Amino acid sequence: MTTTLWRNARLVTLAGPSGWGLIERGAIVVDGATIAWAGVEADRPDTLAIDADIDLGGALVTPGLVDCHTHLIYGGQRANEFEQRLEGASYEDIARAGGGIRSTVAATRAASDATLFASARDRALALMAEGVTTLEIKSGYGLSAEHEARCLAVARQLGRELALTVRTTCLSAHALPPEYAGRADDYIDAVCAWLPALHEAKLVDAVDAFCERIAFSVAQTRRVFEAARTLGLPVKLHAEQLSDSGGAALAAEFGALSCEHLEHLGDGGVRAMARAGSVAVLLPGAFYFLRETQAPPVAALRTAGVPIAIATDHNPGSSPTLSPLLMLSMACTFFRLTPEESLRGMTMNAARALGLADRGRLVAGQRADFAAWNIDHPNELSYWFGSNPCRRVVVGGVERQA
Ligand code: NIG
Ligand code: FE
Repeated sequence: MTTTLWRNARLVTLAGPSGWGLIERGAIVVDGATIAWAGVEADRPDTLAIDADIDLGGALVTPGLVDCHTHLIYGGQRANEFEQRLEGASYEDIARAGGGIRSTVAATRAASDATLFASARDRALALMAEGVTTLEIKSGYGLSAEHEARCLAVARQLGRELALTVRTTCLSAHALPPEYAGRADDYIDAVCAWLPALHEAKLVDAVDAFCERIAFSVAQTRRVFEAARTLGLPVKLHAEQLSDSGGAALAAEFGALSCEHLEHLGDGGVRAMARAGSVAVLLPGAFYFLRETQAPPVAALRTAGVPIAIATDHNPGSSPTLSPLLMLSMACTFFRLTPEESLRGMTMNAARALGLADRGRLVAGQRADFAAWNIDHPNELSYWFGSNPCRRVVVGGVERQA
């Protein structure tokens, strides 16, 4: 195994429970794919034999970004619905009229594997250009055993072919496919029945559902979660995005890794999440694009000690963004997170939302995923918007080629 010294860096370690953990004149020793040591360069223990030495030119270095909520794999796009919404239709109106998620399902089913892969690859490359080293990808636009498997397999293929970690989430309970119109319970039975085969094929790292009045009820979501639990799969939930449906409390009952969106989360949901240790994944891109006005209860989440993560929620209907950095900015402007909370939200807390304890901070023992930025202070990551100061990215100890 090669041991590499990454020197002449200013490290944003996020090592402690709060603060940036800034180390001036810092260095990182990477052994294989793991950080063996990080600290002030002059204090480097001479017991660590170094094979290669790379000068980072005084750059600011943070943990690699973790985009813990995306719907990256789909056919087509929905700019026409954006226009309809600008003319007054609501997201819910469009969904009820058979558009929305269901129109993307039709386009996804019609797309070849190669097309799905090529379009998702381009999107992943855009996220990676802004420092993403771990990416969650949900299914949910196939909505049949065959098409859900196809989408999850494309996600796995991205993980094999690109220099990043991909975690897959099965979101088959995303919307009711047309062939099950009026038979939501039958569809949930079908989802529960095909989950074991997807799991057996090693296509699923976690299970998600959309618990909402335009999607699935708490009782239906519970059945999906029970099927996941039988297989030993962790759960997460799209909860309280458009209304307070009680989804977060249900997810907490199943020890959910995370609940996501949460604009309409009430006090009971906050308490349940705190007890369960679930992460609150906030999605400012969807809040912005759907022109929501009610922000998630950030102050209550903070007081209750619920970890907060931030993600792009990239999808064609509610958040067609490929800029994780813009989400850091919006998390501050719309949700009043501090820049430090934002960065923790797209590193260590996002990793936790995926059940990954091995990344998100620059400390010994963590995976060597980090990004070097052309900025002076980490608060600039939330300050600039519409530009990209990412200069170099290291994934599992190996520098990613641009
Ligand atoms: O996370 N809320 C449900 N799912 C997606 C939107 C999907 C779509 O509109 O295509 C979301 O916002
Ligand atoms: Fe989503």
